[in-house]
Amino acid sequence: MASPLILAVDQGTGSTKALLVDAGGRVVARAAVPVAETQPRPGWVEQSAEELWQSVRRAVAGCVAPEHAAHVAGVGFSTQRESLVLWERRTGEPAGPLISWQDQRTTAQCHELAATGAAELVRSVSGMPLDPMFSALKARWLLDTHDPDRRRSRAGELCLGTVDSWLLSRLGGRHVIEAGNASRTQLLDLGTGDWDPRLLDLFAVPAEVLPEVVSSRGPFPAVRGLAPLPDGVPVLAVMGDSHAAMFAHAGWRPGVVKATYGTGSSVMAIGGPPDAPGLCRSIAWDLGAGPVHAVEGNIRATGRTVSWLAELFDVPADVLLAEATDPGDVHFVPAFGGLGAPWWDPDASPVITGLTLGTRRGQLVAAALEAVAFQVEDVVAAVDQAVGDVRVLMADGGLTRSAPLMRLQADLSGRAVARSGEHDLSALGAADAAGLAAKLWTLERLEARHRPADTFEPSIDAAERARRKAAWHAAVRRARRPPQ
Ligand code: G3P
Repeated sequence: MASPLILAVDQGTGSTKALLVDAGGRVVARAAVPVAETQPRPGWVEQSAEELWQSVRRAVAGCVAPEHAAHVAGVGFSTQRESLVLWERRTGEPAGPLISWQDQRTTAQCHELAATGAAELVRSVSGMPLDPMFSALKARWLLDTHDPDRRRSRAGELCLGTVDSWLLSRLGGRHVIEAGNASRTQLLDLGTGDWDPRLLDLFAVPAEVLPEVVSSRGPFPAVRGLAPLPDGVPVLAVMGDSHAAMFAHAGWRPGVVKATYGTGSSVMAIGGPPDAPGLCRSIAWDLGAGPVHAVEGNIRATGRTVSWLAELFDVPADVLLAEATDPGDVHFVPAFGGLGAPWWDPDASPVITGLTLGTRRGQLVAAALEAVAFQVEDVVAAVDQAVGDVRVLMADGGLTRSAPLMRLQADLSGRAVARSGEHDLSALGAADAAGLAAKLWTLERLEARHRPADTFEPSIDAAERARRKAAWHAAVRRARRPPQ
């Protein structure tokens, strides 16, 4: 009999990836389909919900050969988080575009709410600061636009959901959300694991428009309409993408801290106190034994900083990265749409300091790389405060291909950086969790499987590190300076 296979689908901001993994954990096939985003107004970022669903279908069709389809024992999903879709319950038609996690249209409402003193309630119940990245104010905006009196929401005619919820509804017509994704909406009470009536009231979101919260093992609707998979293949696991990457680093072990270098970055660790300064608290996953909590800091622009420079100079990103020289005194604080963790300052603006007439492109590229490493280190330092002594940082994501960035990260952080050899770690984490549910492997087997490919050690001394950090923080202060 042929070996059973697990199909993992990672629906991310820039693309949808599919991986087919065999019972030995080997990736036997993969496919990726890019997805577009639009910026219809300054600060707005949208995607087509229909395109995301079609990209999942195309990625699965590109990954699963017809002869493999009958051997797929189950599917795991990882998804971009916080982004929000509103759709018609009866027809499944989206009411409009998905509002991306990157979208800043609700910054003014954040300030208004903060002025009412609501921030403490929001933070203590949901684990998150008031910030336009999270879904709650996007929900209010979507409902104010499409259902201003909330009549249709209360009548159960409309459905709100994050990307996992949207894709699952397309698969099986049920309106559910995975616990970790739900915890990133800012509407969930982390204590009860369910929607919180005070937050629903504050953000004017009727309970009837929200999905049912289920664990990372569901129960989820089975696959339908994902050719060549036969209808009825079970969905065995769903996680937020960052959480899935953490899982693939064997992040259930205390003391593991990971950084994912994507469009933005997420630094995450299991545990930590209820109120960790500069960090959010969310549900990493719930594999059936109850929610596992994590602390996390999100950085808005890391990979996006490099791709912005590449667009500006009209040069492929990898070519541009090879041009990096010594940045000298140039510092680039890429506060596009403000700064996330640990500052949580939506009003900060991007700045480049230390420019002279002699500044050349290679210095700007080097400053952009330093900005990635400094931003990650600022959050790792906050995680270190929250969970204890962080000695090794586990790294994954597209930008980790850059060995100079990994060396820089180790230098600026004063910690070893262990790089994963697999770039699609979120998809692998979803496969790991789905295969665990299918009893294809155990946690011990998974732990042995995902050893880092290589490790970078710091090569500068503490005094040099402190000097460089102080110069970076001076530039951050300028990015945060209130407008004159
Ligand atoms: O929090 C947003 C995050 O989930 C998006 O991840 O990999 O799609 O940029 P990514």
